[in-house]
Amino acid sequence: MIIFGGTGDLTNRKLVPALYQLHLHGYLPKDFRLISIGRRVMTTEAYCRDLLEKTRKFSNKALDEENFKTFSKIITYFRLDFDSKEDYALLLEELQKNDRDGVDDNYLFYLATSPDYFGHIVKNLRESGIRNKKSHWQRLVIEKPFGQDLASATRLNETISEVFDENDIYRIDHYVGKEMIQNINMLRFQNVIFGSLWNKENIDNVQITVLEKEGVGTRGGYYDHTGALRDMVQNHLLQLLAITAMEPPLSLDADDVRNEKVKVFESLRGFDEVDLEKRLVIGQYSGYTEEDKVVPGSKTETLVATKVFIDNERWQDVPFYLLTGKALKNKTAQITIEFKKSNPYGHEINNEPNILEIKIQPDEGITLHLNVKKPGVIDKMVMVEMDYCQSCLYLFNSPDSYEKLLLDAMNGDSTLFTRWDELQLTWKYIDSIIASINEKKESLLKPYEIGSNGPEELDGFVDSGARTWWFLNRKY
Ligand code: BG6
Repeated sequence: MIIFGGTGDLTNRKLVPALYQLHLHGYLPKDFRLISIGRRVMTTEAYCRDLLEKTRKFSNKALDEENFKTFSKIITYFRLDFDSKEDYALLLEELQKNDRDGVDDNYLFYLATSPDYFGHIVKNLRESGIRNKKSHWQRLVIEKPFGQDLASATRLNETISEVFDENDIYRIDHYVGKEMIQNINMLRFQNVIFGSLWNKENIDNVQITVLEKEGVGTRGGYYDHTGALRDMVQNHLLQLLAITAMEPPLSLDADDVRNEKVKVFESLRGFDEVDLEKRLVIGQYSGYTEEDKVVPGSKTETLVATKVFIDNERWQDVPFYLLTGKALKNKTAQITIEFKKSNPYGHEINNEPNILEIKIQPDEGITLHLNVKKPGVIDKMVMVEMDYCQSCLYLFNSPDSYEKLLLDAMNGDSTLFTRWDELQLTWKYIDSIIASINEKKESLLKPYEIGSNGPEELDGFVDSGARTWWFLNRKY
């Protein structure tokens, strides 16, 4: 595995801790080697010493120093300037040093650099002859952001596709690798009680909320020309929507699953300027414009709430509310499915809809809310919870999404990675929202306080108060 961006934040926080866990559990392939590429001059020993400290700091699991040292033996630090032809020639030599008679190696290239380098690195892999080096397979893993809009994503894709086939390109969306997201297929398709209710006849609305406590921190430079619509909605939230809403795929194989997600994206109801305000709230937290590397007076949105419709037989007119934002009161991510109310006898007792909560983080689990009779001689209804607390049962030991995604990429399973047609459709959708906001941005952008639940315009957003934001109004 060759990581470009070997001294960067992603490598320190996610990739190396994930590889270390895979090593500990014996999941790394036999004879696995990691070449970590950075631009600084450094020895492998110094690099690994630094990694040990970073992994101790960032990994959410205990670190055994001796084990980490054994793991470090598979790592080589390699200095390379992303644009230097000579450096790529040296990298080819480094790879050739490991050639063994009669064995074709596999190469997993991981682009964990700033997106500005994605195209350059891929071209240089070809021009240096590395891409043509005899191998069993070569794959490319690429981080987001994959473009800034459909046009730039298309340009990037054209560059990459000249060097790698679509089947060998693994576009990562780390949300899709989260444990509870992978659980959605099980929940829907392995439980007849949910499979048969998963439609407009029984579901009133779906709420997908990914809320963060932190502001932009040190990422102001990137974030300020990106904003929440591009940073979170185009990828993570739309992926969660598609996984929740897709038709049962023919099989759980990569293309069958991704074909169904594509159909969801094709059915997204477009935005027009008339219903813009009914279907969108954008906000910015107070003090955002004073953050490091943020342009003074910036109008970048740090929060988005949007009402999405999927125009197909299963979901016609069922609202999917998506909400994401930074610098909010809590860090939580969950999908809430609100079923329709049932009261066939017209009882005056106040029943509540059944709610199914899929908790993604920080707690992982599934909760189902039911109406039952309150014990006593007078008929009263009470809401109870049936709770599967995965984090309590497995003590937060579920793998980080990068462990799963890296292993899948090594095993050639692209089910959880984004195919180009998915990206095209999600960018097209986000571009259309951005185009309809256009010069109205200033008046649409609502301020909210750091540590709050977002701007007050959110209150009435779920159908003028007729529905409830479940993350806010936990009545139960
Ligand atoms: C990233 C976004 O993709 O996801 C960040 O660029 C965001 O802005 C992050 O903070 C959230 O991921 P997680 O796993 O911490 O919820």
